[in-house]
Amino acid sequence: MRIVLLGAPGSGKGTQTDAIIERYGVSTVATGDLLRAEVSAGTELGKRAKPYMDAGDLVPFDLVLGMIENGLNALARINPRGFMMDGFPRDLAQAEALDQLLAKINQPLDAVLFIEVDYEEIVKRLLGRGRADDNEETIRNRLRVFEEKTAPLIDYYKKKGLLHTVKGTGTVGDIGTRIRSILDAIA
Ligand code: AP5
Ligand code: MG
Repeated sequence: MRIVLLGAPGSGKGTQTDAIIERYGVSTVATGDLLRAEVSAGTELGKRAKPYMDAGDLVPFDLVLGMIENGLNALARINPRGFMMDGFPRDLAQAEALDQLLAKINQPLDAVLFIEVDYEEIVKRLLGRGRADDNEETIRNRLRVFEEKTAPLIDYYKKKGLLHTVKGTGTVGDIGTRIRSILDAIA
């Protein structure tokens, strides 16, 4: 199974990941986690990406493309059960690049899950978490970037017949149940 988790910052993509991995045996590529690992390791990519992440802006695509391509190719090779992308694609250029990468390895997407949560709830959640980019100013910018660049992907995937919208409020378990009922139907 090959899926994309789409959702604003703080919508719960990372939180739902373990349950999805456990049930469907997929591997995950979370571009935010990969980038934070580069920052902690002090790599060249990490150094160049950090100012964008601190501001809540997208890291330029030419910087992240190689990292994503490597991650995806490795996953496609090592795990025949498939993969789940969290935090990628983030805009139309990335979505088109993903389509091309997946066409090349003949592994098209099965579904895109859009986790929908309103912005006030998101700000509350993220201020309570306290990651390096969880201050009010950066959160507001991340939401603006989502609205401007990532939200158009909802339509993009709807047109391809891949989009499933999941209500992202309630307990973590409630949302997991909603996701399961969608994925069980396509697994
Ligand atoms: P990234 O790491 O992807 O962060 P994000 O999109 O801002 O999303 P988060 O990880 O904050 O939210 P989430 O949806 O995973 O929610 P979570 O489960 O943690 O990206 C960070 C930065 O990296 C970007 O700004 C950009 O600079 C760069 N970047 C990443 N990918 C890129 C790409 N492809 N191209 C360019 N740049 C890229 O939950 C949030 C909180 O809510 C937690 O505290 C959690 O416990 C809580 N919570 C979860 N579910 C519930 C619930 N049901 N009820 C109450 N609380 C809940
Ligand atoms: Mg996350």
